[in-house]
Amino acid sequence: MYYPDELIEEVRLRNDIVDVVSQYVKLERKGRRYFGLCPFHNEKTPSFSVEPAKQFFYCFGCNKGGSVIQFVMNIEHLDFLEALKHLADRAGITLPEPDDQGEREKANKRKELLELNKEAARFFFSCLAGKEGREAQGYLKRRGLTEKTIRQFGLGLSPSGWSELSHHFLNKGVPAELLLTSGLSIKSKNGELIDRFHGRIMFPIFDIRGNIIGFGGRVMDQSQPKYMNSPDSPVYNKSRELYGLNYARQSSSKKLLIVEGYMDVISLHQAGIDYAVASLGTALTQMQAWILKKYADEVIIAYDTDSAGQAATLRGLDILEEAGCQVRVLMIPQGKDPDEYIRNNGPEKFKNLVDRAISLLDYKIRVQKGMNNLDTVEDKLKLLNSVADILANHDNSIERELYAKSYAEQYGISLESLQSEINKRMRKNQANQRKPNKSPERRGTQSSFSLPQVEQRYGELEYMLLVMLCLENRLYSKVLKAYDLTQFTDPGARRVAEKLYDKLENNKSCMLAELLSEVEPGVASYLVHISETKCELEDVEKALTQLLNKLELLKLEEIQKQTIERIKNEQDGVRRQELGLEFSRRAERIAELRKMT
Ligand code: GTP
Ligand code: MN
Repeated sequence: MYYPDELIEEVRLRNDIVDVVSQYVKLERKGRRYFGLCPFHNEKTPSFSVEPAKQFFYCFGCNKGGSVIQFVMNIEHLDFLEALKHLADRAGITLPEPDDQGEREKANKRKELLELNKEAARFFFSCLAGKEGREAQGYLKRRGLTEKTIRQFGLGLSPSGWSELSHHFLNKGVPAELLLTSGLSIKSKNGELIDRFHGRIMFPIFDIRGNIIGFGGRVMDQSQPKYMNSPDSPVYNKSRELYGLNYARQSSSKKLLIVEGYMDVISLHQAGIDYAVASLGTALTQMQAWILKKYADEVIIAYDTDSAGQAATLRGLDILEEAGCQVRVLMIPQGKDPDEYIRNNGPEKFKNLVDRAISLLDYKIRVQKGMNNLDTVEDKLKLLNSVADILANHDNSIERELYAKSYAEQYGISLESLQSEINKRMRKNQANQRKPNKSPERRGTQSSFSLPQVEQRYGELEYMLLVMLCLENRLYSKVLKAYDLTQFTDPGARRVAEKLYDKLENNKSCMLAELLSEVEPGVASYLVHISETKCELEDVEKALTQLLNKLELLKLEEIQKQTIERIKNEQDGVRRQELGLEFSRRAERIAELRKMT
């Protein structure tokens, strides 16, 4: 980040969060907060709140939160600097051109990497075109790819030797370090550069602007691993890229079709289905879902229908739905992937499948049906219960009713009883939504917006400490004495603490909203969540003292446990006695602390 804190803070201060949010969400004042329908998840009763005094937003339903900057990042799908620029424009502030030395160097490095990747793709392409490429060309032909497609996707071949690419570029004067950062080369045991990819069909991975940011490489036989991919680098981040999006976003179709592999995307494009993208073997991330949402009105997911694919589909669906995408599921018969299906049945049949892609609701119910045998009454009951669960969570009331009717008929039960089961669940859901203390959802996604993993015992307490410190800056010296940076157990909390302590060290004030500007969106959400659910305090100083006591107690108890082990294992009698003494002194302090907390 190359803008000084003060400037970021000025941008934040000159954009009142209530004004900004009101451009997107209809807000109504209730006491000291405004409420509206959350723009980040589906809901019918408002749990999204904005507090003018604190200048942050928080949704009691999905736990997203942050300052005005994070709001704009989330709603406009911008990264931090883009959001900052957006808000600066809005407030009439001119941001200086990035002139920070370090940033300029980073930008240069990125440029060099992209240039190297482009050269590497040319290198791979010429290997494929050359004599050495005969076998690979045959392979691609057998898989049905035309010359034109190979060109469009820039496919190539990595030479089968140990270090042909590395030598080629070293000889051209490319620094070894750049080759290593790009992931094209790796260091061998004796310190020489060798190629990462040997004898593989190479798939350049493009970003949205058509830059080559990495490569995937496939073997031409049955050997393992089937694919190798470039590691993440300063220009490549797996969790935010979608293979094929550079082409798919130019499609006249308003849909995007999401598939699993390189070959699927390529075959589909060749067959005229030019709106296909792939998540490349990794589970769909929130970031990818947001990107999809940005480019398409509707997202159709076509993952494998085996059980792993099914699980991936269900997870992907939840993530897409959460990002606000309209989703349908395409089911390919006989467990084929899109590439195989097209080769066997032709593009028209595949287009039929796209038209017949089923709704999210239908898919979830089908999965449930697949999981139950339906031989016994219990099985039927189980299915109907899950159907009631699914329907109760579905927002569209017309669809809800239609499905309920059809299921009641299919299984010979009365519509009234199914409907009453659904209603029961809906009432329960609403009650849960109103309860603000719901613990934050934790998903296994790598999204930068997802909540941080916090250390089990200390994490929450340490974040609470930071929030309280933001509420009462004057307590800094007290906190520093009792809990300095080295004491933090949760690494995420420590990183936030470094920023906050640094600001307060220089005798500056720092309110929570200001701190939020400097942390990742997920961490910002968590801080606001803590602030709104755990730190609505009458007496901050008293609460903080209690918190510090609690932390001390936790630490002492841990040391006591270790001491017991050490006493058990200590052979030296004198040393054992010393340890015993320490133990009882600590026990006194523990008793004291227990009384106080
Ligand atoms: P083909 O077998 O050539 O049709 O490839 P595919 O694109 O259909 O691949 P598949 O469905 O087996 O896997 C989907 C995606 O997962 C691939 O495109 C790769 O991105 C990734 N993948 C598959 N196998 C591997 C592997 O062995 N290692 C890694 N890192 N990724 C893999
Ligand atoms: Mn395949």
